[in-house]
Amino acid sequence: MTENAARFDVAHLARAELLSPEPQETLDFFTRFLGMYVTQREGQSVYLRAYEDPYPWSLKITESAEPGMGHAGLRTSSPEALERRAASLQGANIETSWHEDEFGYGKTLAYKTADGHDFALVWEAEKYVAPPELQSKILTRPSKKPLQGIPVKRIDHLNLMASDVTAVKTEFERHLGFRTTERVVDGDVEIGAWMSSNILGHEVACMRDMTGGRGKLHHLAFYYGTGQHNIDAVEMFREYDIRIEAGPDRHGITQGQFLYVFEPGGNRIELFGESGYLHLDPSAETKTWQMSDIDTGLAVGGAKLPWETYFTYGTPNPLPLDEHITAFADFGPGAPAPEVEAVVELVPDEIERSRAVADAPV
Ligand SMILES: [Fe+2]
Ligand SMILES: [Fe+2]
Repeated sequence: MTENAARFDVAHLARAELLSPEPQETLDFFTRFLGMYVTQREGQSVYLRAYEDPYPWSLKITESAEPGMGHAGLRTSSPEALERRAASLQGANIETSWHEDEFGYGKTLAYKTADGHDFALVWEAEKYVAPPELQSKILTRPSKKPLQGIPVKRIDHLNLMASDVTAVKTEFERHLGFRTTERVVDGDVEIGAWMSSNILGHEVACMRDMTGGRGKLHHLAFYYGTGQHNIDAVEMFREYDIRIEAGPDRHGITQGQFLYVFEPGGNRIELFGESGYLHLDPSAETKTWQMSDIDTGLAVGGAKLPWETYFTYGTPNPLPLDEHITAFADFGPGAPAPEVEAVVELVPDEIERSRAVADAPV
């Protein structure tokens, strides 16, 4: 990693919007099982926060025909940092627009990543103030830990699926000041990158979409900070028929403790136990994992991340999850991806810009 003048201009991942075709079931998942508070309802959307999220919401659930990510919002470290990041994006001819229409947040810059994911940059954010009955005696905690489910503390990170990992990574490094802490290569091709603007191992990751799709969400993650909570949570999910994909185990990449499940709307959600390795060294180099070491990278304890879902399913997806699993049952290393109609129709049409960014000099 080299010195980057934009480093720390982005403070952290503040919020994400999930789209769900089953909005009530999705809302139940986040409130009953993960103990999140509802703070606002507006139109077809519900806004939620976890008990240590600092703002009025970190998750917006919006009813939609397909699951997926509506947008993700990064908070800058100052108003000037927001202007600098806007100028950097605009200087690269990336289309941007200003909005001021989200509950709890002010002036916001919207743009799409090189692969078509919707992102927002914002500085103005209200601080959540709990009603008296929810105020905590622990001063760094904006609200009491709820007595419901296994409550998550805060939003943690998101993982994007992309047709071109290098293009997305390059944008985050160049325009948002992120550094890439770890990556996975297959020969000359980057197939995964883990990026952060602070000391966390990642707040945005990007993995290659092996189905050839673009602009999908792989997963949104929420933070426990305690590995035992992942074990308690997996028991809860098993008992209450939430579909479990993999875990609990610990990734080699990031050293984070993971548990992957599918919320009822079809989006993959990760529960993050211990956050893993913290990047305090300002001059640390990016660690590069080769495919020969990928088993350790994926799961130190040997948990298998399924090829028929983990490496192929993102949202929106051409097929519902059950049909996708059937279609990809024989897919694996070296096997061609099955032909699935409508892959092209569901993804944004911006591949030329993606290529242009990837080829641009750093
Ligand atoms: Fe993750
Ligand atoms: Fe993970």
